[in-house]
Amino acid sequence: MQHRDRETDRCCRMPGMLLGDIFPNFEADSTFGRMKLHDYLGDSWGVLFSHPRDFTPVCTTELGRAAQLSPEFSKRNVKLMALSVDSLEQHHSWSKDIMAYNNTEPGSEFPFPIIADDRRELVETLGMLDPEEKDQSGMPLSARCVFVIGPDKKLKLSILYPATTGRNFDEILRVIDSLQLTAHNRVATPVDWRPGNSVMVPPSIPETEAATLFPAGVYTKDLPSGKKYLRYTPQPNTHQQ
Ligand code: BEZ
Repeated sequence: MQHRDRETDRCCRMPGMLLGDIFPNFEADSTFGRMKLHDYLGDSWGVLFSHPRDFTPVCTTELGRAAQLSPEFSKRNVKLMALSVDSLEQHHSWSKDIMAYNNTEPGSEFPFPIIADDRRELVETLGMLDPEEKDQSGMPLSARCVFVIGPDKKLKLSILYPATTGRNFDEILRVIDSLQLTAHNRVATPVDWRPGNSVMVPPSIPETEAATLFPAGVYTKDLPSGKKYLRYTPQPNTHQQ
């Protein structure tokens, strides 16, 4: 069996970016024209997501779903940006296929930009390559990477899927709801949380402070350990200071 030494495989190393880092203000060509990331985002949140290749089946279903959900992202003040190692010309042509796959009215515009990274500059710097999946010439394809960037241009979340597993864009919307709620309120969201569900009081908040911070009430579940860490409160509607 052939052994791969990933440490020496520069293009496939994990990215150095950590949550809270300022996302690189890259410049690139996209189906919406030349873009500079921070200017393009302005005061919005951003989701930058890569896909392996244009004209491939899983990617077509993913971008189709992202296009359907695009009004939901806009409602949340989120700008979507897709990216792959194909050219602008291919992106324009493929986006027509995606619209047809979605049965969208002929002539409708694809709702968000697709970035052309045919020189592989961004996928390499941002660590978006999947070493397990190669094109016909043996070059690694881009993985299914998701970066959520806040209005402060900091990285809020990253998810990395291999090329062979399609993402769930409803889940990406769900995490954005959690990220936006927890950006303004000192709460955390539990497993499978949905907007409107109760949220959790984080362990860092002492019991006395929790009572004043959450006037809607705090419910603490009794546990065999006797420790009072499982604390719920109704989802706050306002921005807590
Ligand atoms: C796809 O999008 O269908 C795909 C791309 C690369 C590897 C596997 C599947």
